[in-house]
Amino acid sequence: MDTLRSQFFIRPEVAFLNFGSFGACPRPVFEDYQRWQRELEEEPVQFITVNGPRYLRESREALAEYIRCNADDIVYVMNPSYAVNIIAKSLNLSPGDEILTTNLEYGACDKAWNYYCKKSGAKYVRQPVSLPVASQEQIIEEVKKGITKNTKMLFISHITSSTGMILPVKALCDWAKSQGLLTFVDGAHAPGQIPLDLGSLNADIYTGACHKWMMAPKGCSFLYVKREYQGLFDPLIISWGYDSPITSGSLFQDYHQVQGTRDFSAFLTVPKAIEFMRDYQWEKVSAECRAMVRNNAQRFFDLLNTKPICPVNEAFIAQMLSIRIQTPNPDKLKAHLFDEYQVEVPVIVHEDKVFLRYSIQGFNTQKDLDRLYDALVEVLSEGELLSSF
Ligand SMILES: Cc1ncc(COP(=O)(O)O)c(C=O)c1O
Repeated sequence: MDTLRSQFFIRPEVAFLNFGSFGACPRPVFEDYQRWQRELEEEPVQFITVNGPRYLRESREALAEYIRCNADDIVYVMNPSYAVNIIAKSLNLSPGDEILTTNLEYGACDKAWNYYCKKSGAKYVRQPVSLPVASQEQIIEEVKKGITKNTKMLFISHITSSTGMILPVKALCDWAKSQGLLTFVDGAHAPGQIPLDLGSLNADIYTGACHKWMMAPKGCSFLYVKREYQGLFDPLIISWGYDSPITSGSLFQDYHQVQGTRDFSAFLTVPKAIEFMRDYQWEKVSAECRAMVRNNAQRFFDLLNTKPICPVNEAFIAQMLSIRIQTPNPDKLKAHLFDEYQVEVPVIVHEDKVFLRYSIQGFNTQKDLDRLYDALVEVLSEGELLSSF
């Protein structure tokens, strides 16, 4: 995996173990991004009004093939937060309606749902998933307990953010559909990290980030909505695509793609990002990363005298591992690891627990995790910012 390092801009002196937060773009994909931006500036009118819609369609087609859905059922959005806001704002929630979710969701999405639920008198039900998780069945049974006659939708992460856990979304969506609910999967971390087949997932709505594990430049994500539900959702920004005499043939595209003047170059790099992964046999790279994540887990658990929060196997863990830690000052610990050891790793507070989450990408080597380990040994021995359980 060492050879891949030169394909990324990541500073050589940093042990970069936080791919999960914002991804990182490889050189060929970034060059493609700049090529699109240059073309835009060379002839903005042609780019935005004449060629742009075709470029966007071609990019959507490549993405659709990669995540296995119809290209007209996805629109590019800047980030998953944007997608969640499109959906939550338009759901026309009534007082008493409930959105069923878990207590493991991403904080910004919780905020968006809380906002729209509060405005409409609806309830955002964060059904607790108890840690440590023993099995997928446990998660399914615990989530199921949250349904009531008022539940309208299941909203659930494909891979959780703070806890880095793959959730059994297919089984949960199958169950939710059998109960007549809409299903919305937050797949911010999924595309590029685990194989995705939207056609068989039973998610009515799905959002994923291309700028994380697919390695596109920042500001490149998508929203998928099954054809029969597309009419429910208004654009977040009302612009020329709304109520327009000129249509692309898909109101879903017109509504969400035409969002005023903007630089959509990042969206156009998706075919290049997919090509990059193909060129470097990403399935193999990814399998090596997953093996490195898992093979290192136990020594971190031993060092910190902590237990895994879920089984450390292929069903639950991909390229991220969250380790429960004990620290009086999470922010200071994170800064200390970077400032003193050049280890970039997130220390995340979730409810009453603190997690250290390492991500492994194709450019990481065992040395990066060794540096983290050695740093933790030292910080533990100092006794101020970290203690074992
Ligand atoms: C599970 C999950 N959902 C949604 C998001 C939102 O991503 P953004 O801040 O890019 O909208 C993230 C970001 O890390 C995430 O981890």
